[in-house]
Amino acid sequence: MKAGVHKNLGAVVMAAGLGKRMKSKLAKVLHPVAGRPMVLYGVDLAQQLAGEHVAVVVGYQGKDVRAAIETSGPRAPVMIVEQAQQLGTGHAMQQARDVFRRLGKTLSTYVILNGDTPLLQAETLQALLRLHQDEHAAVTLLTATPDDPAGYGRVVRARDGHVQKIVEDRDATAAEKQIHEINVGTYVMDGSFLFDALDKLQPRNAQGEYYLTDVVTLAAERGLRISALAVSEAEGMGINTREQLAAAEQAVRRRICSYWMREGVTLRNPATTSIDADVVIGRDTVIHAGVALEGRTTIGEDCIVRSHTRISDSTLGHRVVVQDHCVIRESRLEDDAAIGPFAHLRPGAVLRRAAKVGNFVEMKKAELGEGSKANHLSYLGDATIGKGVNIGAGTITCNYDGHKKHETVIEDDVFVGSDTQFVAPVTIGKGAVIAAGATITADVPPDTLAIARAPQVNRPGWAARQRALLAGGATPPSRKLTSLKADKVSGKSSGRNAKPAKRRS
Ligand code: UD1
Ligand code: CA
Repeated sequence: MKAGVHKNLGAVVMAAGLGKRMKSKLAKVLHPVAGRPMVLYGVDLAQQLAGEHVAVVVGYQGKDVRAAIETSGPRAPVMIVEQAQQLGTGHAMQQARDVFRRLGKTLSTYVILNGDTPLLQAETLQALLRLHQDEHAAVTLLTATPDDPAGYGRVVRARDGHVQKIVEDRDATAAEKQIHEINVGTYVMDGSFLFDALDKLQPRNAQGEYYLTDVVTLAAERGLRISALAVSEAEGMGINTREQLAAAEQAVRRRICSYWMREGVTLRNPATTSIDADVVIGRDTVIHAGVALEGRTTIGEDCIVRSHTRISDSTLGHRVVVQDHCVIRESRLEDDAAIGPFAHLRPGAVLRRAAKVGNFVEMKKAELGEGSKANHLSYLGDATIGKGVNIGAGTITCNYDGHKKHETVIEDDVFVGSDTQFVAPVTIGKGAVIAAGATITADVPPDTLAIARAPQVNRPGWAARQRALLAGGATPPSRKLTSLKADKVSGKSSGRNAKPAKRRS
């Protein structure tokens, strides 16, 4: 295991509660902070200290919490403990204890975390553990002193300063409510003391729950040492409400922005930049105002991402330029690619080296080959486009026939004229040229010119006559334009009839 992991240490993350105060359909611990479910922050901290000896207590939406942990790529396997009924934090710890007993090893010390304190730092936990060991304590707790302690458990100290008990907000007397020092919900406890004390808990309180915090009282009664370490209000914040969630989100985002600036990334306006926890950015990349980088996004070196662009779960190579107002999801842009402004890459879009996508272009499951360009107003879906291809303005792959999706293949060095539709499935051979305004319904062999549009009809004088007619109050001939179809394609055929041509059959 990595350095920092303590062999004789177990850790428990309590994450079974619903989180009533969030007023949400989603379990509180699954609400994301900087793109990661809140519970993962605690799990990661716990693993940094205790390695594979980490249990997470799940209950409400437990399957989803388990899935969130397992798909996050944890440092080591995590033991998931079911707490079917959420009878309190003490009850949650009783369930975890059973799992550690079944492990067959006796661990001397346990770190316990609430699943709703995403701002806690690893150094703080290390310091808490050190204090616990230095002072030979039975219980060591983390405390904070917020301006508004409402809702938290208060730390009650004896006259000599020693911690005596923790009293929950709802059980506190008026005098106890005046106490500003609160219990963060992060503890280090001696294993044998804890395992025994858990049996002594009684649900005699306002909520009728088994409170883990009551083990503090038990330790005090037995004359055991209770130590405490103070952290800043911000770091100790437990998320119970949406407002606290927003505050935590901001704090985590600030940290992430600072981190990337220290790593050599320029953020033009960091207060408006949001970078998720799992994003990676290369040196000398410049990120402009209002950019959101989400999920598992990786950006290379020397890239430019201009304002109000969202990039989710995508990979950008080096020297990629993303102009303003783009949306890029589950896509890949290789070195020197360029995109935008106002472009939309949907899942499965690939821009190969130095490919270029311009304004109002949408791509989905489509690959644009090396050096190829789709500069204006296009939809490219279910398409494979080779190298050196020019996709003219307004090109559309008609990939959907109402039932199924079909593929368009455009080989290297094809020139596609503007306003072309490819009715898929269709393949355009290498070096072919598609004349503008084509509706391509059949394959085009290599090096072939394909023209697929109605030939042009020019009628000299027709427009002038129409204007004269309209001036005379007659019905404009344009109402009967269908009759033109029957005319010869010559420009002379309609002669100088004052009336529009009659349909001939
Ligand atoms: C708890 C503490 C309180 C502390 C506060 C800090 C207790 C009794 N109180 O109160 O002193 O100031 O945290 O934020 O511990 N959970 C379970 N199973 C349960 C109940 C809760 O796993 O049966 C989990 C929750 O998912 C959550 C954590 O334990 O992650 C804390 O639960 P919560 O209901 O938020 O406790 P608080 O009332 O905030
Ligand atoms: Ca809480």
